[in-house]
Amino acid sequence: MNENQRLDGLQAAAAQAPDKKPEKDYSKYFEKVYTAPSLKDAKKRGKEEVKYHNDFAIPEEFRGMGEGRKFYIRTYGCQMNEHDTEVMAGIFMALGYEPTDGVEDANVILLNTCAIRENAENKVFGELGHLKALKLEKPDLLLGVCGCMSQEESVVNRILSKHSFVDMIFGTHNIHRLPNILNEAYLSKEMVVEVWSKEGDVIENLPKVRKGNIKAWVNIMYGCDKFCTYCIVPYTRGKERSRRPEEIIQEVRHLAAQGYKEITLLGQNVNAYGKDLSDMNYGLGDLMDEISKIDIPRIRFTTSHPRDFDDHLIEVLAKGGNLVEHIHLPVQSGSTDVLKIMARKYTREQYLELVRKIKAAIPNATLTTDIIVGYPNETEEQFEETLSLYREVGYDAAYTFIYSPREGTPAAKMNDNVPMEVKKERLQRLNELVNETSARIMKDYEGQIVEVLVEGESKKNPDVLAGYTRKNKLVNFKAPKTAIGQLVKVKITNANTWSLNGEMVVEETAEVV
Ligand code: 5AD
Ligand code: SF4
Repeated sequence: MNENQRLDGLQAAAAQAPDKKPEKDYSKYFEKVYTAPSLKDAKKRGKEEVKYHNDFAIPEEFRGMGEGRKFYIRTYGCQMNEHDTEVMAGIFMALGYEPTDGVEDANVILLNTCAIRENAENKVFGELGHLKALKLEKPDLLLGVCGCMSQEESVVNRILSKHSFVDMIFGTHNIHRLPNILNEAYLSKEMVVEVWSKEGDVIENLPKVRKGNIKAWVNIMYGCDKFCTYCIVPYTRGKERSRRPEEIIQEVRHLAAQGYKEITLLGQNVNAYGKDLSDMNYGLGDLMDEISKIDIPRIRFTTSHPRDFDDHLIEVLAKGGNLVEHIHLPVQSGSTDVLKIMARKYTREQYLELVRKIKAAIPNATLTTDIIVGYPNETEEQFEETLSLYREVGYDAAYTFIYSPREGTPAAKMNDNVPMEVKKERLQRLNELVNETSARIMKDYEGQIVEVLVEGESKKNPDVLAGYTRKNKLVNFKAPKTAIGQLVKVKITNANTWSLNGEMVVEETAEVV
């Protein structure tokens, strides 16, 4: 059968029973889609050049597929996943689907999953349990699992054996195949599994429906080559691939023209940006320098790896302007020995030296971090080195985690003599220090004036507006709703551990910290 005949068959089948699994076996109309993931393949780093594509289009035969149908995507995990959801929403809308806020009236539900820790995965399996009832009630409902968990063979096998009511599984490298995957799922009686383990190319012109019109995410690179021994990300997201600077700059310019006020440049390891651009010597510092010239009030980036954080980037960030003075710099541990076992490729001293350089160049810089406690065989002394490093750096905030073994990573094979109660107790001690430090830093804001990008009503009280400062502090204050989407000045009246309360200031001359 040639491609045209195959597509004719697909169309005919789709026209007959677009919303239902067909009575007849239509599998002869398409090659069966079953591409399972392999962590072993995902680990390989090929030498082949990344291909850039600018020719994404919704195939003719799928246009209108979503007419009269609604989609719902639940997102777990990091900003990268949030942004992938924006892309998938864009594809759904281009296919004619409408978004819905509730699972009950959705015709397609996707769970965009995170694999970083076991509890992230448990949440998804719990949700699948809830959705089973809905699926039994509405057999026409399509239920899909995508995102990082789909890249793990153990997850795919578990879904195949225990959650066989799922209609489709696809991975992080084949999001652009969503129209084809949906089509196959409508026609197939069996679960459609399409997960590519080899990293994808870079596909530039995917449609996007952004959440909100004040802040936007912009991908600058995909994947990670660092292979920290605990981390699943290099396996679920593939090798490092940078977008071309001109594409990124064009996207940021476009967002500025649309009135967005804040951009966050995204990548799993943004400091490695440009290393794979073989035709140019261009890094994150160069990119930030160019983006700083675009007329948009705030630019952030996440997430950094200290190893590749170079002097040029520090120099560029020190110019300030729209480059905010908040740097998220995950340290993971304060012990050189633990860092070595984690394969972080820096020592405690090298990290502190980097912090010293950043603070010397950007005196009002705020640092936040990620920390893992209870690494296999972490001693009390090594944990205390983490506490002492936290005090020494004086971070504004930290995301803190108990180590969670991830199948397929080197750390998962390590013997671990640290009991769970000890891990929990360490997390609690660290969190106390994190909270105390934040409360102290926040207290210093009382009486000061800050610039707030107003995002909307406060979650707790619709009479109060909420927004964030350049240093990412949450501020609640009373002001007219017309302030939403604007940058305003707010005088801080009192501070909590994780948020500030204040009053809007109208004088033009008020000095902002
Ligand atoms: N266990 C616990 N925390 C982890 N992180 C990454 N992998 C693991 C793991 N296996 C944390 C790191 C990382 C953040 C995004 O999640 O601190 O910076
Ligand atoms: Fe979770 Fe990492 Fe995947 Fe983000 S990239 S969703 S943090 S596993």
